[in-house]
Amino acid sequence: AIKRRQDYRPPAWLVPNVDLDFALDPGATRVRARLEVTRNGGAGEPLRLDGDGLTPLAVIVDGVAVNDWRLEDDQLVIPLTGASHVIETEVEIAPDQNTQLMGLYSSGGNLCTQCEAEGFRRITYFPDRPDVLATYRVRMTADKARYPVLLANGDPIASGDNDDGTHWAEWHDPFPKPSYLFALVAGDLACNAGTFTTRSGREVQLGIWVRAADLAKTDHALHALKTSMAWDERVYGREYDLDVFNIVAVDDFNFGAMENKGLNIFNSRYILADPDTATDYDYDAIAAVVAHEYFHNWSGNRITCRDWFQLSLKEGFTVFRDQGFSADQGSAAVKRIEDVRGLRASQFPEDAGPLAHPVRPESYLEISNFYTSTIYNKGAELIRMMATILGPARFRTACDLYFDRFDGTAATCEDFVTCMEEGGGVDLSRFRLWYSQAGTPRVSASLEHDGGRATLRLAQQVPPTPGQSAKEPMVLPLRIRLFGAETGQPLGPEQLVLLEEANESIVFDGVAERPVLSINRGFSAPVTIESDRTAADLAFLARHDDDPFARYEAMQQLMLDTLIAGAVEGQADHRAVIDAVADTLDDPALDPAFVAEAVLLPSESFIGDQLSTVDPEAIYRAREALRGDLGRALAERWRNIYEANTSGAAYAYTPAGKGARRIRNVALGYIAASGASDAAALAFRQFEQADNMTDRQGALSTLVNGDSDLREAALDIFYNRYSGNGLVLDKWFQTQALSTRDDTLEAVAALAEHPSFTLANPNRARSLIGAFAVNQRAFNRADGAGYRFLADQLIALDRLNPQTAAKLLPPLGRWRRFDPARGALMRAELERIVATPGLSKDLFEQASKSLQG
Ligand code: ARG
Ligand code: ZN
Repeated sequence: AIKRRQDYRPPAWLVPNVDLDFALDPGATRVRARLEVTRNGGAGEPLRLDGDGLTPLAVIVDGVAVNDWRLEDDQLVIPLTGASHVIETEVEIAPDQNTQLMGLYSSGGNLCTQCEAEGFRRITYFPDRPDVLATYRVRMTADKARYPVLLANGDPIASGDNDDGTHWAEWHDPFPKPSYLFALVAGDLACNAGTFTTRSGREVQLGIWVRAADLAKTDHALHALKTSMAWDERVYGREYDLDVFNIVAVDDFNFGAMENKGLNIFNSRYILADPDTATDYDYDAIAAVVAHEYFHNWSGNRITCRDWFQLSLKEGFTVFRDQGFSADQGSAAVKRIEDVRGLRASQFPEDAGPLAHPVRPESYLEISNFYTSTIYNKGAELIRMMATILGPARFRTACDLYFDRFDGTAATCEDFVTCMEEGGGVDLSRFRLWYSQAGTPRVSASLEHDGGRATLRLAQQVPPTPGQSAKEPMVLPLRIRLFGAETGQPLGPEQLVLLEEANESIVFDGVAERPVLSINRGFSAPVTIESDRTAADLAFLARHDDDPFARYEAMQQLMLDTLIAGAVEGQADHRAVIDAVADTLDDPALDPAFVAEAVLLPSESFIGDQLSTVDPEAIYRAREALRGDLGRALAERWRNIYEANTSGAAYAYTPAGKGARRIRNVALGYIAASGASDAAALAFRQFEQADNMTDRQGALSTLVNGDSDLREAALDIFYNRYSGNGLVLDKWFQTQALSTRDDTLEAVAALAEHPSFTLANPNRARSLIGAFAVNQRAFNRADGAGYRFLADQLIALDRLNPQTAAKLLPPLGRWRRFDPARGALMRAELERIVATPGLSKDLFEQASKSLQG
């Protein structure tokens, strides 16, 4: 049944306290629950407890076994007469059989849980909604040899051994929490232990729990945790609140990680790192995800969501917080560029397609499908815009007000915006449209100059999205600055323009020389800008703009215009791009990490997103042509950069080390694109000599696009060297799935039969199937074989793991963006998926919506 935001009703019963007793066993775990329930209005309402795949073995009310309960769909309905009761239930579940990885499941011989959003109901009967906050006492009993470590939320209370080879432990979490934050872990785990002393002097025991063999790969995560704890105190004034904070890494996990109170559970790819197996990108991502989950302790756990329509309340805000953290660890400019690139790669297409939805959705069939880039990343942009409008000091005051006012409650997005208004002293009534209107606003900007006066004409338009045909103008905070075309100097300070109407003009007086427009600096609003700036203007900004994001953006726009001309007309003049890239490479004042971002061409998908009809072959050819010309025209520079950034020094994860590796691998890519005869040998030498995964994988990604014998050699060496390391094997699969070769689909289909491939592990499924589906040219082969392959895999995966299958569907929903022949082939696969018997509601919702849209 479809759930609607407007149907929200407060719960009829509250559950202040819960006791859970687990007799853990992978084949048959007994769960006994004791719920103290109190009526919350609604006289006569029976108690309704959610369940999913459960059967009650016993129902006891106030100490007496009853049988007047009934099952309605999956709910256990118990008639109750009084105002408060004690309910006891018992169920049996099989973690071993749980391939969905929601609820209690086995991973690598250990037992763990995932409850967000609606997994707790797969463990025990409970009002499984985020506005029912309970304190939990958890007792676990398990075989001691097999599961020597027993962890749950909160603080450990007591533990002991039984005579039958089992042992037990009790944990208590004093903070009332929703059921989605429940967690337990039982396993054979080793701990990297640390401590953190909070600013008020509380000593917190930290633990990163992994397989003993992985212990050496946990220092980076532990360090990131400590850094995050200090950062949240310093920047947001938020202190940790329990005596222990544990993180457990598991190999089988549907997403990145989970913020369970005091017991975060992570996909091992966001914990484990050493130079030999993790790239710089992995190190960055680990720190960001550790920070994200830690920050949820306040933005998510202390203040949670009233209902799942409010999901962005915790996710958008927490992404904004983790972005701020990462920006503070290294180059803020490069971090912003990466975040915007990610937003454009996943959220903009979502907003422009059949699955578009507002940051606060109005309805859903399956909540798991709404853990989207719109909720997370566009949601973070909404917080960023409010922070920009308020300015840092008032934003901090407003956040303090929010944390103070709503601590211990389940809140709404509206509550957050109200605090921004009250704490910031601003009126955000019109701004609220950002929560309800889907679609990426388009802003057109044209600048006129006439006798000392410049007039900037801005117009905005929000495109229609499914269910929302007419849109109102939105509040867009645009950071703007003008530069003099002759002097290269700024003409006055930066301004923050709040564009609120469909059309507005802004006048700048005293503008003597021809002005060049720098707009949406720092990407202050998540919009697309169409301007009348010429190639010369963009090249000028790429050299002179003092805002690093705007400088990067001008270069991207120049490249994009050139690539679009190339794709549409079959050829383009590459000189302006070549000159701008040359100047960027030659500018000694620039940070190499920034240069590496600035000289990379926009992706094939992003080029396609700018066109009314995507022609993947034409886009690929235009992009390769420009890459080749850049490689040849600047050949000497690429060689020099490559050599200059090749040092004998051992790997160090430092900003300087990262920057050098990044620019060096970009240079290697251009050397290969130039067609240089020694390119494969150069890549292979790097592959063999590298003392770190960043350089090894960089070399492999270059080799894998070519047809040299060294390609096969490198793939074999890589596979044999890392055949025991699942996370690195994921890279082996992914790199091949992203290859630009003509035979990539055949190669991927063969890899799907490889003994190391399995759909049962979400990381592995994503590394091959997910990566292939974003390989624009290979996936969109004109014969439709790419679409058929994806649909086959999704149908198979859906039987095991509906959530992960549904997450991989969106590339098939982009049929309106392609020519009618491809569109028809995509629709046929979507129809085949929808018609599959026994399909999950997860995959059904995504596929059926993709057909409509
Ligand atoms: N709250 C987790 C996080 O952002 C992710 C949970 C995802 N749950 C889901 N059903 N997709 O950190
Ligand atoms: Zn989150």
